[in-house]
Amino acid sequence: METADQLQNTIPNELTEFSSSEMNAHDLAQLHVYEPPKWASSLKNIPKYSIKLAQRNTPIHSWNLPNAPKEFSISIKRDDLTGCTLSGNKVRKLEFTLADALDKKCDTVITCGRLSSNHCRTTAVAAKQLGFNSYLLLRSSDQKTVAVGCKGNLLISRMAGSNIILVPELKYKSGLKPMMEKIAEKLSKQGLAPYLIEVGGSSYTGLFGYLTAFQEMMDQNLLEDFDDIVMTAASGGTAAGIAIANYLTGSKLKCHAVNVSDNDANVYSKINEELMAAGLLVEAEDIIDVIGGHHLPGYERPSQEDLEYILEISSSTGVLLDPVYNIKTVRGMLAEMTNNPKRFKGNRILFIHTGGCFGLFDGRIDSLLTSSRGTECNNNILCWRDIDDPLPI
Ligand SMILES: Cc1ncc(COP(=O)(O)O)c(C=O)c1O
Repeated sequence: METADQLQNTIPNELTEFSSSEMNAHDLAQLHVYEPPKWASSLKNIPKYSIKLAQRNTPIHSWNLPNAPKEFSISIKRDDLTGCTLSGNKVRKLEFTLADALDKKCDTVITCGRLSSNHCRTTAVAAKQLGFNSYLLLRSSDQKTVAVGCKGNLLISRMAGSNIILVPELKYKSGLKPMMEKIAEKLSKQGLAPYLIEVGGSSYTGLFGYLTAFQEMMDQNLLEDFDDIVMTAASGGTAAGIAIANYLTGSKLKCHAVNVSDNDANVYSKINEELMAAGLLVEAEDIIDVIGGHHLPGYERPSQEDLEYILEISSSTGVLLDPVYNIKTVRGMLAEMTNNPKRFKGNRILFIHTGGCFGLFDGRIDSLLTSSRGTECNNNILCWRDIDDPLPI
């Protein structure tokens, strides 16, 4: 396993060089002075600028989820539609973090995540669109660079010309953050101006992406039409933004975040960090319900039932759920509705779809479509070669 010191010496120089014309592509005119919603205007450390990367006003529509308890009516906020390669929740955070990087006249962004990270893919694409060079430190048990291939998000990160560095499966604060700092140190010595983005894009600055999204949902009648709002939590930034916005607006909605990894205390402590940075005296535990126990068999590891339910949902509602975050959240939400319905404030539920569909393109779901087990989707390919042949249907 390489240490951060060894790593610093292994960054090939040619990866760190890029032309001044690329650097000039930073167009500061893309920065918009950020006006927070009125209810957020007393927060501390409000970002100065944002940039426009996401397709805003993503729709909210009702969602006829198969096997959902009948007492509940479920709708879905389609934040999987914030863009194509920039899709999902991460782009909303990057509207603030990359604006900060531009404002600070940085030219290179460095971030980290798992091998097929949605956050890293989104960062790679947005960085290139804005003229930044990007470095992605991707956690991989396989340290052979040829073996990692081009599946899912990694294909897009590679196509966006990101500099990818495989790193061991380390924790963020004790392992990956110091490694990012070492890379930044070396790049600075080479005359570049690096900007570090936290794992998952979940910095205090990035939080404003979901404060803004909350205002967008208020303009879509969130407060009148719903009793509860449900989303995924991993690094916790999205949940923090929604919960803090919900609290600040005095809304009567109850927020729930289904944790897709094993430690619920981490999600609360991340939200508490953001509350402190914002200068708010309330506790995370009082503004959001973190729902644990639905992450098995483990983070990044969908069960067979998860994959089967992804197919059932896609074939009955046309909505694609990713295999790491949203499927576990939906299954967790349904399990709570069945076993613990009082956990919800009412029965009008808004589920926030946070994207991640490229995770479906890693081959894991393929065998369900080609197996002989009966679902609507498998073996549904027919062949008809000539108009005079018997009809295949
Ligand atoms: C598709 C998707 N949904 C949800 C999340 C969780 O968001 P957060 O990290 O803000 O908790 C992630 C994080 O990587 C994600 O990629």
